Amino acid sequence: MVSNKMTQQKWDAAEYAKHASFVTALASDVVELLNSQFSERILDVGCGDGELTAVLQAKGCSLVGTDASASMIESTKRRGIEAYVVDGHELDFQNEFDAVFSNAALHWLLQPEKVIQGAYAALKSDGRFVAEFGGAGNIAALLKAMQEVLDDNEEFGEFKSPWFFPTVEEYKSLLETGGFEVNTIKFIPRPTPLTSGISNWLEIFAEGITAHLSDENRKVFISLVEEKLRPVLYSDEEGWVADYVRLRFSASKTK
Ligand code: BEZ
Repeated sequence: MVSNKMTQQKWDAAEYAKHASFVTALASDVVELLNSQFSERILDVGCGDGELTAVLQAKGCSLVGTDASASMIESTKRRGIEAYVVDGHELDFQNEFDAVFSNAALHWLLQPEKVIQGAYAALKSDGRFVAEFGGAGNIAALLKAMQEVLDDNEEFGEFKSPWFFPTVEEYKSLLETGGFEVNTIKFIPRPTPLTSGISNWLEIFAEGITAHLSDENRKVFISLVEEKLRPVLYSDEEGWVADYVRLRFSASKTK
C-alpha cells in the first residue's frame, strides 16, 4: 500500500478501491493479533486508502494513518481519520502510540531497519508493533513471470524487484536488533483470489516495474506476463489465485 519513491510506484485511491479491496477483506487475522482496546492510540503505517484504518477507528481507537501517497492520504482523511503523507522510512513520532500497526505495506519499504527504528520511537514504553506483509517466497510465480518477460524483451529494460520479502529468521533478527521482543512471528502461505484478474493486479501493483515503459509496451508486458501465468495461477473453477505468502508478527518495545 505504501508508495515508494525509489520504484516510482504510484497509487490511485479510486483504482485501488475498485480492484484491491481484498487487501482489507483478508486482514482479519492481523486485526485479531493487534487486539486493539477501546481508546488506544494507534499508528497505521502504510494505511493506503484508510479502509482498514477506519475499521480500527470504529472499534473506539484513535487512529493516525501515514502513507507516502497523497492520493491515499486524501482518501483516508475523507473517512474522518487523522492522516499524513509520510514515507514509512521517515516516521517521526516520539513515545505517543500504544500500538504501531501495518497491513500489506512493509514489503514496499526496502530499508526495514529505518522502519523498525521509526516504529520503536513512535511507541510508548509498553507499546507493541503488530503487522502482516509479504514473506519469503511471496508472489514467486508472479516474480518469475515478470523476470522472464523482461529477460525475453531486452528493450523493456532490466528487472529489479521493488519488494522486500524476508524470512521469519531475518525479520525476527531485525526486530530484535531494533530493540523489540518478538512475541509471535509466523510464516503463512495464503493463496489469494484475485477477483479483478491478474491484469488489474499488474496495473495496480507492478507500476514500479512498468513505470518506464510506453503505454503500448506496458500493455504488451502485462499480456505476456498474463500468458505465462495462466497455466500456473488460473483455473476455470477458482479464477486467478496469486501465490501470496504472509509474515505476521507481534513485538513489544522492551526499553
Ligand atoms: C502483497 O500484499 O504481498 C503484495 C502486494 C502487491 C505487490 C507485492 C506484494
